[in-house]
Amino acid sequence: MLHNSLEFTHELIKKRVKTGDTVIDATVGNGGDTLLLAQLVGADGKVIGFDIQEEAINRTTEKLKNHNLLDRVALYQKGHEQLLSVYPERDSVSAIVFNLGYLPKGDKRIITSPDTTIKAIEDGLTVLKENGILLIMIYYGHEGGLLEKEAVLNYVTSLPQTNYQVLKYEFINQKNNPPFLLAVEKR
Ligand SMILES: C[S@@+](CC[C@H](N)C(=O)[O-])C[C@H]1O[C@@H](n2cnc3c(N)ncnc32)[C@H](O)[C@@H]1O
Repeated sequence: MLHNSLEFTHELIKKRVKTGDTVIDATVGNGGDTLLLAQLVGADGKVIGFDIQEEAINRTTEKLKNHNLLDRVALYQKGHEQLLSVYPERDSVSAIVFNLGYLPKGDKRIITSPDTTIKAIEDGLTVLKENGILLIMIYYGHEGGLLEKEAVLNYVTSLPQTNYQVLKYEFINQKNNPPFLLAVEKR
């Protein structure tokens, strides 16, 4: 059976992230991806997580505590567009994950937005190491989602093929704007 976009994202993360790695969750939300990343990097690895909402940081902290994994995660209640001020080390992280849109079971008016998302992707690519992957799950059914989808698609489509491989993973016969994945691999 074909994986849905989120399952496929998790498969890519599991294949790529190794014990001891440093990785970034650019939109921690309810902490689903943060938890997976924390499990994969092991006790010697590091997960850096961003979200602008206190609620997201609190829910994720709780989730990590319940799994005894908080020690390897640094959560910042900051926009991911500030990524470089938190973590400026070039060519050093093996994976960066974005889930665009609003916090599930949260305030649906607080959404990721094109300018800050693109700045964060651009900066994220500088800290990504060779063969590292930057994954972007695009949810665009909400108001404002289409604009962000187009902006992000335009940006990643323009990345030079000599430096990056860019993949779009999408079901094309489903109703109700199913989310899709953009995966950027640094060469
Ligand atoms: C779709 S949710 C993330 C879902 C999460 N990956 C999970 O597993 O639950 C998107 C999140 O992005 C956050 N967000 C919005 N703008 C942001 C920004 N500039 N920087 C970081 N996070 C942001 C929202 O607060 C929201 O929690």
